[in-house]
Amino acid sequence: MDLVELVKKSSADISILCAPSSTGEEPYSIAIALLEAGVHPSKFKILGIDINAQVIFKAKEAIYIQEHMRNLSPQIISKYFAMEHEKYTLSQSVKSLVSFEVINLFDESLKAIGKFDFVFSRNMLIYFDKETKLKAKKILDNLRKNEINDVFFGHADLF
Ligand SMILES: C[S@@+](CC[C@H](N)C(=O)[O-])C[C@H]1O[C@@H](n2cnc3c(N)ncnc32)[C@H](O)[C@@H]1O
Repeated sequence: MDLVELVKKSSADISILCAPSSTGEEPYSIAIALLEAGVHPSKFKILGIDINAQVIFKAKEAIYIQEHMRNLSPQIISKYFAMEHEKYTLSQSVKSLVSFEVINLFDESLKAIGKFDFVFSRNMLIYFDKETKLKAKKILDNLRKNEINDVFFGHADLF
């Protein structure tokens, strides 16, 4: 079952973590996918974390160039973005559904973010050696509220 179906099936409000979020494309895409599936904005909240303060600054800005928009249809672009000087600014209605924090996954401060219904971690483990990957996987697994929901890893995040 994919995330949209899982969220729609749930009667409770849903929390989603993107670790790492980089410049925000992934968490914002999740928010748009849920909105497009008819999920009410009050039913979910998304947190993106990343070790890099610069990418988090850009994620909060949510201004993208054409290259970042290639997977989005013209309908989605016109519905959720304002275009000016060849830059695409995400609407406040989507930005408000996602918050961001600068956090190192391995840092003690991670505990403060709490636990989540769904955890996404794509394209971070690829940078780690085997031992660090396993350590990161354990940390990400522990960020889930419920063990039934596996962490969503990317295809490249092989163990
Ligand atoms: C290639 S991006 C992936 C972003 C997004 N998940 C995606 O697939 O588009 C990898 C990100 O991992 C972040 N990162 C690397 N080590 C990290 C750590 N220990 N804690 C948090 N983020 C980390 C980097 O700063 C970078 O922004």
